[in-house]
Amino acid sequence: MRATAPSKDELDPIEIASLDEISALQLERLKWSLGHAYENVPHYKKAFDEAGVHPGDLKQLSDLARFPLTVKDDLRQSYPFGMFAVPEEQIVRVHASSGTTGNPTVVAYTRNDIDMWADLMARSIRAAGGRPGDKVHVAYGYGLFTGGLGAHYGAERLGCMVIPLSGGQTEKQVQLIRDFKPDVIMVTPSYLLAIGDEFERQGLDPSKASLKVGMHGAEPWTHAMREEIESRFDMDAIDLYGLSEIIGPGVSSECIETKDGLHIWEDHFYPEVIDPETSEVLEDGEQGELVFTSLTKEAFPIIRYRTRDLTRLLPGTARTMRRMDKVTGRTDDMLIIRGINIFPSQVEEIILKDDRLSPHYALEVTREERLDELTILVEHRPDIGGAGEAFLNMVAKDLSHQVKSLIGITAAARVLPVGEIERSMGKAKRIIDKR
Ligand code: DLL
Repeated sequence: MRATAPSKDELDPIEIASLDEISALQLERLKWSLGHAYENVPHYKKAFDEAGVHPGDLKQLSDLARFPLTVKDDLRQSYPFGMFAVPEEQIVRVHASSGTTGNPTVVAYTRNDIDMWADLMARSIRAAGGRPGDKVHVAYGYGLFTGGLGAHYGAERLGCMVIPLSGGQTEKQVQLIRDFKPDVIMVTPSYLLAIGDEFERQGLDPSKASLKVGMHGAEPWTHAMREEIESRFDMDAIDLYGLSEIIGPGVSSECIETKDGLHIWEDHFYPEVIDPETSEVLEDGEQGELVFTSLTKEAFPIIRYRTRDLTRLLPGTARTMRRMDKVTGRTDDMLIIRGINIFPSQVEEIILKDDRLSPHYALEVTREERLDELTILVEHRPDIGGAGEAFLNMVAKDLSHQVKSLIGITAAARVLPVGEIERSMGKAKRIIDKR
């Protein structure tokens, strides 16, 4: 089944306000946010003073480029609560990012921040084609990760019935989708595929399920993956983006009308794209690293935060606010194999063009005599099950050949039996680094 677009009078007026109105609001809010950060967070006071700038120097939006950038390490150094701009008694919730090593980054919310977040997630779900009265199955993890609770509060705010399953218990996911008949599912694209596999393992067809819309994010996924999901589940697959440091999910969302990139909710988050090497601000349309400044957040104002996500800014279409292109990858997920840059998403596109290969894959990097070697590990589709070794070797050879001719990289490929690639309950792990 498919979803339908909201009508103009269902939208928040600011979603279709003029560009002038939006930038006037941004300027007023940005002045407030810079002042709030400077006065209440020692890190920002020090960083602004060292850069010789003061919140009062901001006369127009482009003046923001004079202010210092913030990186993840700045947040880590203030662990746990050093970046909070309000007394602890005013904080009603914290979340933390999943850093694999060292201290996690802790982020905080006042009651107003939680409200704003719920409003923006409700706006995102509506943009995706969800409506008050819909049933929303949440399979993002609940806990310190922002996915589950972010989706949950947004769906409630829109007036939906929330089914708060969290990640994991894949058989239960299938059972509740069949029995409760949700309209919307919110889940990482990779975990949705695992749910799809479980349907099929039970001899069921996921396209017959009640789902109309999937809202997928928390990890990069390609247009090829969208096609895979849409045809397998017969639903619309919509991209949802966000990060804990900015608020969580709901920083931007695709609109079902156009599915042409994610509209950034610019009334609360001001985007810039910079050259990751020189930090210079790039023109809209140019590819670089996405940087965000919060405009209204109370507990955890964030100024010019380097997301490490690579994308470009595009003009609005279904809404006035600017869009960001699908995130191709993070600067930290970029592999450099013999001088050529490569992201897992580029390999994903090639894999999904081959109907003998499944979307379960990982890239293994090893080092042989000081040279990095890439091996693509990918499962074959279950329906070519009985295929012998010679056939799988031929499929692997074809994949290596495609990667060489389209990306320019020499990579080995191994086509594995179904179930050999580790399934994630949340964000997929695409890179196995054995260096
Ligand atoms: O992943 C928040 C989220 C939850 C977004 C659920 C969407 C849905 P973090 O754990 O802080 O927060 O990770 C943020 O995940 O900087 C991106 O690298 C990546 N990411 C998030 N959404 C997308 C997306 C959540 N739609 C980091 N496409 C971000 C590509 C994404 N990458």
